[in-house]
Amino acid sequence: MRHGVAGLLALALLSVPAGAADLEAGKAKAEVCAGCHGENGISQTQNIPSLAGQPDQFIQWQLVFFRAGTRKNEAMKPIVDQLTNEDIRNLGAYFASLQPAKAPPDDDPDLSKKGAEAAAGRRCASCHLDSYAGTKGVARLAGQREEYLVKALHDYKSGQRVGGSQAAMTDVAYPLSAEEITALAHYLAHL
Ligand code: HEC
Ligand code: HEC
Repeated sequence: MRHGVAGLLALALLSVPAGAADLEAGKAKAEVCAGCHGENGISQTQNIPSLAGQPDQFIQWQLVFFRAGTRKNEAMKPIVDQLTNEDIRNLGAYFASLQPAKAPPDDDPDLSKKGAEAAAGRRCASCHLDSYAGTKGVARLAGQREEYLVKALHDYKSGQRVGGSQAAMTDVAYPLSAEEITALAHYLAHL
């Protein structure tokens, strides 16, 4: 008897897959998010990001960072305090399943060109993918609200935003000039 009952039980549990996310439950839970993040996860509000089409894992991790208090935001904190791990799993799956926001028509192609050059020089696509759709814990940037992208980059640069996977972005954002941030955000928001 090398394992004992507890050992066998642990082995049995390990072979059970983690509970699959429930999209319908995620959708129901997401009703409280719509007031700020918009219908179908597309924000109409300044400084509030769209969530539609963000990678499942990125959404889940950010919710965990807010709940743990490592990412600080007064609007989000009371919301995440009410969420169980199961809610977070369901919300991640639900928002990831939604159609991302359509980029608005580009009103300043010259600025976008500068942004595209900065993005190439800084190798943003090496993590965010060529489509800027993001993957796993890396955020979607394509079509995100422009002023939110500006805010997020300044928050990393100043060290205000510290999540669990922020180290990469702090290093990336630190050397960016304000002009580069403006151009990058304009370019990405119009993809
Ligand atoms: C009272 C308004 C409000 C409500 C309600 C709200 N949020 Fe937020 N949320 C915000 C704000 C503001 C931010 C941006 C925080 C920042 O600037 O760092 C945010 C950021 C986020 C982010 C990070 C996204 C990113 O691109 O970095 C996620 C994920 C998120 N919210 C999910 C949710 C979910 C899921 C719900 C519903 C369960 C919800 N939020 C409800 C205001 C709200
Ligand atoms: C080494 C990989 C890596 C590189 C290179 C990188 N990023 Fe990121 N980026 C990430 C990760 C990981 C996150 C999520 C970090 C977190 O948890 O806060 C992120 C998040 C972001 C966010 C926040 C989005 C949101 O919705 O909250 C913005 C904006 C961003 N990156 C822009 C850029 C830009 C612009 C560049 C190039 C100048 C760039 N990134 C290069 C890995 C990277």
